[in-house]
Amino acid sequence: MPSEIREAVFAFHGDHPLLFYLIVTVIFFSFLLLALTEYFKPVGKRRCKDGKPAVLPPGPYGEMATLHLGSKTWIFLNSNRVVSELIAKRGSATNQRTPMPVSSGIISHGDRRSVLMMQEDWAEPRRLKSTQMLAEYLLKPKLWYRHHYRYANSVIHRIALGERLAKSTKELEDMQNCVIIFVGNIGHSIRLEQCNYDVYREWWVPARDKVLAGTAPPSFICNTLLHGDTKYTDNDVDAMYAGMQLIEAGSDTTREALNVIVMAALEYPEAFHKARAEVDRVCGTDADARLPTLADMDNLGYICAMAKEGLRWHPIFVTTPDHTASKDIDFEGYHFPAGVGFIINQNVVCDDCESPEKFYPERWMNGHESDITHGLWQFGGGRRVCVKYRFAQRSLLFTISRLRRLLTTLNLKSTNEPFPIKVTVHNQHYGKLIIEQAERAGVLEDAKLARDKL
Ligand code: HEM
Repeated sequence: MPSEIREAVFAFHGDHPLLFYLIVTVIFFSFLLLALTEYFKPVGKRRCKDGKPAVLPPGPYGEMATLHLGSKTWIFLNSNRVVSELIAKRGSATNQRTPMPVSSGIISHGDRRSVLMMQEDWAEPRRLKSTQMLAEYLLKPKLWYRHHYRYANSVIHRIALGERLAKSTKELEDMQNCVIIFVGNIGHSIRLEQCNYDVYREWWVPARDKVLAGTAPPSFICNTLLHGDTKYTDNDVDAMYAGMQLIEAGSDTTREALNVIVMAALEYPEAFHKARAEVDRVCGTDADARLPTLADMDNLGYICAMAKEGLRWHPIFVTTPDHTASKDIDFEGYHFPAGVGFIINQNVVCDDCESPEKFYPERWMNGHESDITHGLWQFGGGRRVCVKYRFAQRSLLFTISRLRRLLTTLNLKSTNEPFPIKVTVHNQHYGKLIIEQAERAGVLEDAKLARDKL
């Protein structure tokens, strides 16, 4: 600082000390404010990595819309076309996740809800459990919606923990609430964290102890999570979150999708007559009737289309977790800076078709009906697509085809959830078939047990 200025500052300080400190304080806080504003500026309002300004779509309407919230910028994708362009075709640049300090950090004890590696061959538990579900439908038809969750959960339970599910309704509800509250999050994160943790422990500890005692059957936790060579060795909490995440992710999604299918059965009976005709054609009728198996799925194109249409007609995910750009992206005149998050606006994207309000499986009969992710974004997309979408698809096909085979639904004219429906066996011969099959598969007792626990 030149000496004249310094002398002038000292003189001013000597003459007006109070004013001097006031001015210094104002300057200090102005700089602090500027620095904080810059730091917390939404990603989309900063300069891009390449030094150019961002060019973002206007909101709120159109194929894309921008939302700045805190330091984040989200681009909502509102049409099949832009989802396909940005999430699928440019997937290598849009497959990062935004750090979510609350949902993944606090609630999941430090990012433990991550991708899971799993052994395959899940067909057998699914076959047994869906037979059990049909028997439960027969034994307790009014509680049809509970059978969906128990079915979905018991398949995953068998795979993840190696044992048949013998949980009470209360225990199942606690687990279901973990995911419902987690997804709907997250005002009370600390309380939620403890609640999640406690429920997980109740499920985890007995299963883990059996593995450690050498008395557990083969399972995902036995063979993978608690195997001596994995990264989970000596980290019990990590292993627990990985195992329980699998159970959560696999149960509630399938339950909701099945509920939607039942809802569609009430609203659009003609689509369901077609589905039944298809299953009848493939699996026979009356005396020679049998339950559909996974081997039949290639011949059940309409059922495949129906699973896709259910997820489109009533999406179970309203948005998907954002896919964050790892580098600046030029797209159709826009310049998206690295760090913006792309969100599939599912309700709008699912309506991006002719007569979207109609449940119309035929719209998917285009040669791609057996690929559930072709043209449907409910499982996300690109390299982040749901790791178990094929598994989920088979669970849906299996159950839809079996339900259509055997049950007739009838609306009791109420929309309150769980909306009441009347479930009847389509034909007495099928009722006998279900009981016989459940007995032969050794799950009839489980079905009765489940009924008693309801
Ligand atoms: C109708 C059924 C299902 C739907 C609609 C669904 C949908 C999704 C979606 C939208 C994502 C995020 C994808 C993205 O970011 O683009 C996801 C991730 C995931 N899903 Fe599914 N899912 C279903 C069933 C399942 C099942 C049955 C399992 C396990 C058995 C499962 C395991 C997972 C896991 C572990 C992830 C996290 C992947 C990651 O960390 O990136 N999902 N799912």
